[in-house]
Amino acid sequence: MKIVCIGGGPAGLAFGLLMKQAHPAHDITVVERNRPYDTFGWGVVFSDATLENLRAADHETADAIEASFAHWDDIELQFKGRTIRSGGHGFVGIGRKKLLNILQARCEALGVKLVFETEAEDESAWPDADLVVASDGIHSRLRTKHAGVFQPQIVTRPNRYIWLGTKKRYEPFTFVFEKTEHGWFQAHVYQFDAETSTYIVECPETVWRAHGLDSASTEESIAFCERLFARDLAGAKLLSNARHQRGSAWLNFQQVKCRQWWLKTGGTSGHQHLVLMGDAVHTAHFAIGSGTKLALEDAIELARLFGRRGHDVADIGEVLAEYQRLRAVEVLRLQNAAWNAMEWFEICGERYCDTLEPEQFMYSLLTRSQRIGHENLRLRDRGWLEGFERWFAARSGLTVDTAAQPVPPMFTPFSLRGTTLPNRVVVSPMAQYRCVDGVPGEFHLVHLGARALGGAGLVMTEMTCPSADARITPGCPGLWNEAQRDAWARIVAFVHAESPAKIGVQLGHAGPKGSTNAPWQHTGADRPLAEGNWPLIAPSARPYLPDGAVPRAMDRADMDRVRDDFVRSTRLAAEAGFDWLELHCAHGYLLSAFISPLTNHRDDACGGPLENRLRYPLEMFAAVRAAWPADKPMSVRISAHDWVEGGITPADAVAIARAFKAVGADLIDCSSGQVSAEQQPVYGRMYQTPFADRVRHEAGIATMAVGAITEADHVNSIVSAGRADLCAIARPHLAHPAWTLQEAARIGYTGTEWPRPYLSGKPQMEALFQRARSS
Ligand SMILES: Cc1cc2nc3c(=O)[nH]c(=O)nc-3n(C[C@H](O)[C@H](O)[C@H](O)COP(=O)(O)OP(=O)(O)OC[C@H]3O[C@@H](n4cnc5c(N)ncnc54)[C@H](O)[C@@H]3O)c2cc1C
Ligand SMILES: Cc1cc2nc3c(=O)[nH]c(=O)nc-3n(C[C@H](O)[C@H](O)[C@H](O)COP(=O)(O)O)c2cc1C
Repeated sequence: MKIVCIGGGPAGLAFGLLMKQAHPAHDITVVERNRPYDTFGWGVVFSDATLENLRAADHETADAIEASFAHWDDIELQFKGRTIRSGGHGFVGIGRKKLLNILQARCEALGVKLVFETEAEDESAWPDADLVVASDGIHSRLRTKHAGVFQPQIVTRPNRYIWLGTKKRYEPFTFVFEKTEHGWFQAHVYQFDAETSTYIVECPETVWRAHGLDSASTEESIAFCERLFARDLAGAKLLSNARHQRGSAWLNFQQVKCRQWWLKTGGTSGHQHLVLMGDAVHTAHFAIGSGTKLALEDAIELARLFGRRGHDVADIGEVLAEYQRLRAVEVLRLQNAAWNAMEWFEICGERYCDTLEPEQFMYSLLTRSQRIGHENLRLRDRGWLEGFERWFAARSGLTVDTAAQPVPPMFTPFSLRGTTLPNRVVVSPMAQYRCVDGVPGEFHLVHLGARALGGAGLVMTEMTCPSADARITPGCPGLWNEAQRDAWARIVAFVHAESPAKIGVQLGHAGPKGSTNAPWQHTGADRPLAEGNWPLIAPSARPYLPDGAVPRAMDRADMDRVRDDFVRSTRLAAEAGFDWLELHCAHGYLLSAFISPLTNHRDDACGGPLENRLRYPLEMFAAVRAAWPADKPMSVRISAHDWVEGGITPADAVAIARAFKAVGADLIDCSSGQVSAEQQPVYGRMYQTPFADRVRHEAGIATMAVGAITEADHVNSIVSAGRADLCAIARPHLAHPAWTLQEAARIGYTGTEWPRPYLSGKPQMEALFQRARSS
């Protein structure tokens, strides 16, 4: 086979040598525009696993690389005058030049032709090649030429970075944060050979411009960074080896993804193929240092697939299809993790640097990619994590006994006003459709009672309605009369008598989504009842579903009546003894429908800009707050994202949270969606937590995260990183009333309080999980 690799970076060189090593008869050329030892950049990082993959294919290259590695285990943070270090992170670094030299030497030894100082225009210069590998890096000319087939998506990110080096040695991987009058800068620093370290300096574009760095030369930029990081550098100089680069030495990261990775170009033989590899087909932000790893693993995989097919020219198309199929999955996984880490560095200056204390900032930094959770941090460095847990417990008001097992953040108390929850787990409101005339009965006593016995810190009722016509379905609960109040009081009394849990009521009005079936009845959820429908009200006369019942637009008299109904419910809730009240302003129900521009088309003072659309929900909040005991907290559930173009966005959610905070809200419960049937939500693990995180830091108010939080590890990492104060768990609680007690046992925490009659189940469950962990 005749193979030409255009671009002699890690991808092109590794593929060339692996193919030649496996099949010496191949005629392989690597074409590179630079001179042999001329390259950009300093050190690169990759993992032991990549090296093992390489070793399986060519142990000589792997051995040579390993001999030149700098290994390090610790991550160190320098932040606000503090230095914090945690271990067990296991990285390896190597100079980029050194890596390329090893690959070049191995290519030469095997007989791969290396052609330097040659600019390749495209594949047409090698019409007789069977396979052309476009390993020409992030700005790939070949990818651009065939953009119609490859369909690249290129996203330019807002931060600026400069890739520098220094002769100072760093034992750990070091992050240095420095604040200037215009904002925060961060440096990512790691040693890669006996005397040299990479020093990448990064900041938001606005901060970069405010310092005039957009017009600074490379020398001026280096002088600026030396002054900024003088404390860390302690006299060491920063160095650039990108002086040949045109334009600013400060770059914006570009994420590259391609739909198609290869094509048939024909050539003279008719079977020539072109394939993209490495940065040409995908990039991953340096925040998790994986670009070189991906480039090498592309080369290893493609060479392996050719080996499996016997290196037959006739199979090239099939091999390339398989290469894309296999690599695309792994690449996407890494790109997602790199994306999270990259976003963390983009927003940390604005969101976390000023608000988080160094201990919590370190935790947030370590979990930035969201691939590493709480228990994984324990595995990496138990001492550091337990120190953090004790710090967090003390911050939560616990007296810390250093001899005892530390309390995981999930099991620390949380106080608002005069109410203290025993832990951070909330049974999220979940409609059960089991009431008659709005009166909760035996089902609710068992349902809510069991979940209080099951260890959650706060048990919320489902949406409970201030009048009969405010209900979603005829089976929904109410709080408009004394019978309902007394039925709730019985449940509240049970929870208080039998468990340490608190119990909260969620008050809400269905608005345009009322008078419908339970999900399992007739035509299903959100559909009008088969019979006995009641008239609906909403901010505007628009149905939720295109063919649904059309509500009447509320007038002032309606607004007064509904507000007074909520106030009556609030008084009844206080009489029933509830500890917490949540105003439901989410999911397209009445108050949510006022807030979203998708559902509010009013032309009075309650329509138009967000400020106006919030007027009635805020009026409602103030009236309810005034009727609710001052020592009891009130939260507001919002849809922080409508997931529809033109709807509420997470930035709006911050403004909404600020407005509720100003009228006395204690916490914002950040849900999303269900406002429009057109929604296109992006689901995934903990998918709504970014909203709680953003609201918490930008609006400066406590938050509850909810949505696909399914493990103790999720709760611990969300709460520890300060992304939310509480975690609401809905569906997992349907299957496991004792979800909290079970999750405690799963992670080996034995300090939970079990109901006394259940105590003999505790050691057994703990022992079973202990056995599972150690097997
Ligand atoms: C600041 C920064 C830090 C990074 N840190 C890390 C890290 O810590 N760990 C990590 O794994 N990765 C890191 N990377 C990414 C890493 O450098 C790349 O992902 C990796 O080099 C990709 O290898 P490649 O072979 O695909 O492309 P490249 O290394 O870019 O090689 C492409 C080669 O093609 C040549 N070329 C391009 N066009 C032509 C042409 N028309 N004719 C001839 N030759 C051509 C170029 O000169 C170049 O040598 C970092 C990147 C940056 C920007
Ligand atoms: C059966 C069911 C009923 C629900 N009813 C309500 C409700 O009454 N009020 C509310 O705010 N959210 C309600 N939700 C949404 C949940 O509180 C929660 O936000 C959502 O299910 C996502 O959390 P999860 O991934 O843990 O299930 C309901 C969810 C389910 C599954």
